[in-house]
Amino acid sequence: MKVAVIGAGTMGSGIGQAFAQSDAVEKVYLCDIKQEFADGGKAKIKKNLDRQVAKGKMEQAKADEILGKVVTGLADIAVDPDLVVEAVLEKMDLKQSTFRNLQENIVKNPDCIYASNTSSLSITEIGTGLAKPVVGMHFFNPAPVMKLVEVIQGANTPDSVVAKVKEISETIGKTPVQVNEAAGFVVNRILVPMINEAINVYYTGTSDIQGIDTAMKLGCNHPMGPLELGDYIGLDVVLAIMDVLFADTHDNKYAASPLLRKMVRAKHLGVKTGIGFYKYNADRTKTPVDQL
Ligand code: CAA
Repeated sequence: MKVAVIGAGTMGSGIGQAFAQSDAVEKVYLCDIKQEFADGGKAKIKKNLDRQVAKGKMEQAKADEILGKVVTGLADIAVDPDLVVEAVLEKMDLKQSTFRNLQENIVKNPDCIYASNTSSLSITEIGTGLAKPVVGMHFFNPAPVMKLVEVIQGANTPDSVVAKVKEISETIGKTPVQVNEAAGFVVNRILVPMINEAINVYYTGTSDIQGIDTAMKLGCNHPMGPLELGDYIGLDVVLAIMDVLFADTHDNKYAASPLLRKMVRAKHLGVKTGIGFYKYNADRTKTPVDQL
């Protein structure tokens, strides 16, 4: 199987790695709008594989084989994929134009499946006006590790495409859960309001950053506290999902925290900008930063 991943950021590179690690996948085209962005995505994959080798969890030869499957470039290298997974920015018009360009000008394989890794946008709307249907294939960060793939059926996604994407997910060692289109699908509908609530708990002075994260880690057995997880996902992504939930429902329970909005304006986005609820140091340690 050949897979094209469009967008080589955190999710795109992780998804590329998840596919390249499977014996069923012979090639991963990792694409972005600039060659250097695509190469940056491949460098992230190399770093992850190097870590596995250093820990003695993977042979160097296996790491080389996985990395050797990843070809980087602009979207125009994706001529013959069996599956396209779009992981560009969460902007409806960008996603629509990306699929249109791929379907009309680039991909020559008539049986190619077109999937979007959107974290909350409407699959039906993404697919509107396109010649070929779009299906949701939603991975979780870090994509090489997290087992779940939400497979989302839009109003115009045929059952056969959904079934095929569930099968592909299993082939690469993931567990698919089929969901109907709804803002936030299942996980983000539940998880992201929880993170937003944690931000409000901090904003209203109930506890400090470490207190909230420690409470949720030890009290609920979550692997990361909600503020740490917000930083990890990216606070801009958290805000975008809250805004989609609110726009779709007009329910005040989905109103984004004013502090979240302020931090996004300040580019305090978390790990990706080096600062959020924590400051991320070069030695991989992190220290809480008061945001009030
Ligand atoms: N890429 C690849 N592999 C990674 C990785 C990354 N970015 N980060 C960690 N790993 C691997 C490590 O190499 C390690 O592998 P081995 O067990 O084979 O050695 C394994 O994951 C565990 O890593 P660590 O021992 O370093 O650290 P940990 O035990 O603390 O686990 C974690 C790290 C897996 C990220 C864990 O903290 C966790 O599960 N956190 C919650 C993540 C989560 O909730 N993700 C969902 C976010 S929501 C989302 O993504 C959807 C959306 O649309 C916004």
